[in-house]
Amino acid sequence: MKKSLIIANWKMNPSSYEEAARLVADMLPIAKKFRNKVEVVLCPPFPWLTDFSHEEQAVGWGAQNVFWERKGAFTGEISPLMLKNSGVGYVIVGHSERRAYFGETDAMVAQKVSAVLASGMRVILCVGEREHQEDGVPQIVRIQLEAALTGVTRAHLARLVVAYEPVWAISTTPGARSDTPENAFETQIFLRKIFAQKYGSKSAGLVRIIYGGSVQPGNIGKFLGAGTMEGALVGGASLDAQAFAEIIAIAAKSV
Ligand code: PGA
Repeated sequence: MKKSLIIANWKMNPSSYEEAARLVADMLPIAKKFRNKVEVVLCPPFPWLTDFSHEEQAVGWGAQNVFWERKGAFTGEISPLMLKNSGVGYVIVGHSERRAYFGETDAMVAQKVSAVLASGMRVILCVGEREHQEDGVPQIVRIQLEAALTGVTRAHLARLVVAYEPVWAISTTPGARSDTPENAFETQIFLRKIFAQKYGSKSAGLVRIIYGGSVQPGNIGKFLGAGTMEGALVGGASLDAQAFAEIIAIAAKSV
């Protein structure tokens, strides 16, 4: 039985250590309660991430970014090895905000994916189209995924999570609305086929495919369940301990 994977992406929030520590403290009991069914990963901002990851192992810890080089003269950057050696298990790579505001290209995303996998950590690779398309899965999703897989071998697949995040559905996008479960389901099949073509259908099943975009307690249940999405990447609602707790509890029912 695969556990449901629920990831909190706090983005550049909150503003103080005290608030971050309170969020962690409020989320731990529910994460512990459902740990047999739900894998919870929290991705706080860098100033506190490694404090938490050194101290608390009841949840997984994820970074929101990373650089691909191992060490050296790269002012301001953080290497995969630094994160790994601090107890961090996951790294979000290719989030649409990094692509849009920080100029991350598909080639840069591919380098980051390879570097994180080489370090032994797990990757949460984000893909998703900017504009809503009525019919079918937009080709940009295929292009982003195939580019990111440049250095990924079959042996890496069990440590790869793909988060399908249509940008138009992310809560901070003006006019955002969550995707339909049908469309998310169709995209999940589309992504899985790309893996099957490249690595074989058995190996394709090792990759976890999750959904992100305005996930709330009121809609998470529709995205999860047998044969559909295997978890969620949660932004806004992961800054509300009560809402995030409800999301975890609903995810536990889906497995
Ligand atoms: P949201 O963010 O849940 O606030 O839509 C998701 C994300 O950007 O990862």
